[in-house]
Amino acid sequence: MKFFVDTADTRDIADLAQTGLLDGVTTNPSLIHKSGRKFLEVVKEICSLVEGPVSAEAVALDHATMMKEAAVLRNIADNVCVKVPLTIDGLKTCKALTSDGAMVNVTLCFSANQALLAAKAGATFISPFVGRLDDNGLDGMQLISDIRLIYDNYNFVTEILVASVRHPIHVLESAKIGADVMTAPPAVIRSLFNHVLTDKGIAGFIDDWQKTGQSIL
Ligand code: E4P
Repeated sequence: MKFFVDTADTRDIADLAQTGLLDGVTTNPSLIHKSGRKFLEVVKEICSLVEGPVSAEAVALDHATMMKEAAVLRNIADNVCVKVPLTIDGLKTCKALTSDGAMVNVTLCFSANQALLAAKAGATFISPFVGRLDDNGLDGMQLISDIRLIYDNYNFVTEILVASVRHPIHVLESAKIGADVMTAPPAVIRSLFNHVLTDKGIAGFIDDWQKTGQSIL
């Protein structure tokens, strides 16, 4: 399963990239606003920090303007993945861009039928928002299972990118279902490394090692 980080904070991205476990980055207009930086400038910097796909979102709602925005975004770097919303104009744009060799992430997916449409439009990634479904009393992970089943039924190559991840259980369930990618905030990714018994085990081993009076080097 690929791990993307969902942020426009370049310090976090650089720090997580150093682990060697980061496969890409997703941003959205809210995350750009939170960064306080210029959109095109921050996307360019992110693209230099990771080799994998960096999702940058078009903000126009009509197909013609989305195509113009996509041209600007694609010009930033080869690893830009244009993000478009799951609307008729968004999917028209998706089909045109992927037919032209661009990577496209179709965002704001909340139903399996929407995911089916995105796959038919040739999306590189479909982003179902599990956290926002859960927030509204719905079952985000059930949507991931449904999309996996549908995509496998028809051998769609669109990758399921689990988005709006709120906690490590979302990551665990996504991996069990066989989602291709998950994108999570930096804090959620960092929390995956931790276990209280790992910390306790290290403390015990180091304590006993010191009592041996030995050194490896
Ligand atoms: C994904 O690409 C989105 O940027 C993101 O996962 C949205 O998450 P949120 O629901 O926490 O805003």
